[in-house]
Amino acid sequence: MATPHNAANPGDFASTVLMPGDPLRAKFIAENFLQAPRLVTQVRGMLGYTGTYEGVPVSVMGSGMGMPSIGIYSWELFAQYGVENIIRVGSAGAYAAEAKIFDVVLATAAYSESSYAQTQNGTAGDTMIPSPVLNQRLRASAKKLGIPLLEGVIHSSDVFYRDADDPDYWKKLRREKGCLAVEMESFALFHNARVTGKNAACVLTISDSFVSHEETTPVQREQSFTQMMKLALGSVLE
Ligand code: ADE
Repeated sequence: MATPHNAANPGDFASTVLMPGDPLRAKFIAENFLQAPRLVTQVRGMLGYTGTYEGVPVSVMGSGMGMPSIGIYSWELFAQYGVENIIRVGSAGAYAAEAKIFDVVLATAAYSESSYAQTQNGTAGDTMIPSPVLNQRLRASAKKLGIPLLEGVIHSSDVFYRDADDPDYWKKLRREKGCLAVEMESFALFHNARVTGKNAACVLTISDSFVSHEETTPVQREQSFTQMMKLALGSVLE
């Protein structure tokens, strides 16, 4: 039962899939955190693995960047592969001073200007919410590991490179929509979970800041990502 975008066989995915944007990050997670990881798909280089974490089966697969991309992969995982839970593990740009570089953010809602939900099935509205159950498990895991969690609304943006004529657009999103940080996938992921009756959540590490203009190096990003991965994997044991 392969799909145009996924070569895995039925039963190849665990009931929970962690989704980083970058497929090489999925490979890194599988090879460094999972026991007995097995490559189950690599169509278009979008690597997906299944292994176990402390004895519990878990999968990890790249989502690509942006809502059309995560929209495809998450839909197929939910609707065609029987996956129950998807946890996005990504990076974000901070819109608020309290979200510092390397902080870990738990999304409580995703605001977006995206037409994804409207186009997908006519759903109106600009905000999607994650699974309260998954969020509780993520909170419990963070507490156990002693990782502080910043919670808030995130902005799921369709555009990374905005017109340079409006450098302060993010201040309006912070002020009027309460957005703590920006990424590019969760609105579509949360919508797909709702439509298919499944669960989705999102944890993000702050990699850059619109407030302080700080950025991180690839090595720093890898180290901070490790913390978030342990948090997400730990939530599977809750
Ligand atoms: N992910 C990490 N930083 C980002 C930013 N500045 N905009 C959108 N997505 C991001």
